[in-house]
Amino acid sequence: MKTTYDNSSLKLKKEFAEAEDFLPLNGTDYVELYVGNAKQAAHFYKTAFGFQSVAYSGLETGMKDRVSYVLQQDKIRLVLTSPMEPHGPINDHINTHGDGVKNVALWVDDATKSFEETVKRGAEVAFEPKTIEDDHGKVVMSGIKTYGETVHIFVERSAYEGPFMPGFRKWESDYNPQPAGLKFIDHMVGNVGWGEMNKWVDFYAKVLGFAQLVSFDDKDISTDYTALMSKVMTNGNGRIKFPINEPAKGKKKSQIEEYIDFYKGAGVQHIAVATDDILTTIDRLKAGGVEFLYVPDTYYDDLLDRVGHIDEEIEELRKRGILVDRDDEGYLLQLFTKPVGDRPTLFFEIIQRKGAKSFGKGNFKALFEAIEHEQELRGTL
Ligand code: FE2
Repeated sequence: MKTTYDNSSLKLKKEFAEAEDFLPLNGTDYVELYVGNAKQAAHFYKTAFGFQSVAYSGLETGMKDRVSYVLQQDKIRLVLTSPMEPHGPINDHINTHGDGVKNVALWVDDATKSFEETVKRGAEVAFEPKTIEDDHGKVVMSGIKTYGETVHIFVERSAYEGPFMPGFRKWESDYNPQPAGLKFIDHMVGNVGWGEMNKWVDFYAKVLGFAQLVSFDDKDISTDYTALMSKVMTNGNGRIKFPINEPAKGKKKSQIEEYIDFYKGAGVQHIAVATDDILTTIDRLKAGGVEFLYVPDTYYDDLLDRVGHIDEEIEELRKRGILVDRDDEGYLLQLFTKPVGDRPTLFFEIIQRKGAKSFGKGNFKALFEAIEHEQELRGTL
């Protein structure tokens, strides 16, 4: 593995000095999924993942063509949207892709400038800057296109005090399951088609001013059957990290290819959410019905030889199927859910970092074998 962040931080800082000038990002504002049944999806994310009810938009708020539920857990905000009419872009999206991520919204101080600077550098326009207002103030939004049909929305909300944004009202619910300790989005991974990784790496570098964090080639991440290539792009303050995957040739179908086949193109593969107590979080998620990838019991037999000393009891990790990886700066604990919808596409990662800044490359082999086991059951290997 070639690491570029730890031995050249000065160079990166210099590169970012210019990058931050044109696109300072405060963090992820929200992630919007287009789903077949937003009301029931909202129930799932509350029950299974411990999200809380925040805001609602629909017929009662004057929204005629769609309904949206906004859910939040600490800094993670999800918006679930379904169409109310038989034809339209939301219907087309769901028809083509199944339930999936449409908008990855980024929180900025100036949505107009963010739009102008990125479009100037070659971004395709999703929608021009617009200001929406209600009694709580105003929000400025603009949008640019990224891989597949995915959109980055720039959200400027410093002049807004409402529960989410104009057009939404507070969603009071009598059903408020216990949160699972999920804190913020650590990274979001995009799967792109064969030979397209570098095109999108260049897009994030040139158009958004991101830099590459870690790179490894397909020899690093392959098993007997499946393979992929991946590069991680990050913004200047490191709050936004977007790994980009493309399939690579293996003996059988790459899991990335399986995703592309079922999603019908490029899209968000997984959302990694951070916790500072992964044991408690996993117990809560499992109690809520979240399904995780099966990790072979043998994974733990030589774990300490691979990762050295860790604070956690191996038995506690084994019981929950939690994976561990180490890099130069520390270690991380992680676990991957099964796909959250009907198609084998979007899934979640639960991650707790204890110093490590990498993404669990050492676990890819164990993980891939687990995914292959699932692919075999689906007959898509
Ligand atoms: Fe990840």
